[in-house]
Amino acid sequence: MVNLVFIGFMGAGKSAVGQAVARQLAWKFYDTDLLTLKLSNFKTINDIFDEKGENFFRQLEYQAVECLKNEQNIVISTGGGIVSNETAIELLKLSNACFIYLEASFEEILKRLRGNTSRPLFRDIEKAKMLYQSRLERYHRYADIVVNTDQYTTSEAAEKIIQLL
Ligand code: S3P
Repeated sequence: MVNLVFIGFMGAGKSAVGQAVARQLAWKFYDTDLLTLKLSNFKTINDIFDEKGENFFRQLEYQAVECLKNEQNIVISTGGGIVSNETAIELLKLSNACFIYLEASFEEILKRLRGNTSRPLFRDIEKAKMLYQSRLERYHRYADIVVNTDQYTTSEAAEKIIQLL
């Protein structure tokens, strides 16, 4: 088997489900947002966006992916915007990874993220909704497997993915 890469919009459950799948497979788990933060001198992703801007964040996000390029049999949870970071996607695709798109409706995402202030691109809900719509085509284009998480708990979604694999 190769690596598993979770893609999907903010709040789709990529980190929680990715960790659950990694546990079941006894594979290492990596989160590109955490790696990105480690590569920066900032404490939060909000700080990176506010002080350096999104392009700077995307460059660090690419470097985070680069750190993983020689690893095998790992599970990677990506940030929701990785699909607009084409060089990062190309690098991930080079590793022959299986891309799992965790799909969730915007209404469900809104329920999950309401009141959560840790995401700079979810501060304005109308803008977040447009971003969601603008990314759908890319999530589908890059996905090898699509799993809708609206009706699933984390462990149910992980179970479903293990079955599909
Ligand atoms: C982003 C999603 C976030 C994080 C950053 C940008 C995006 O990750 O990478 O705030 O562009 O959708 P999550 O999808 O884990 O929230």
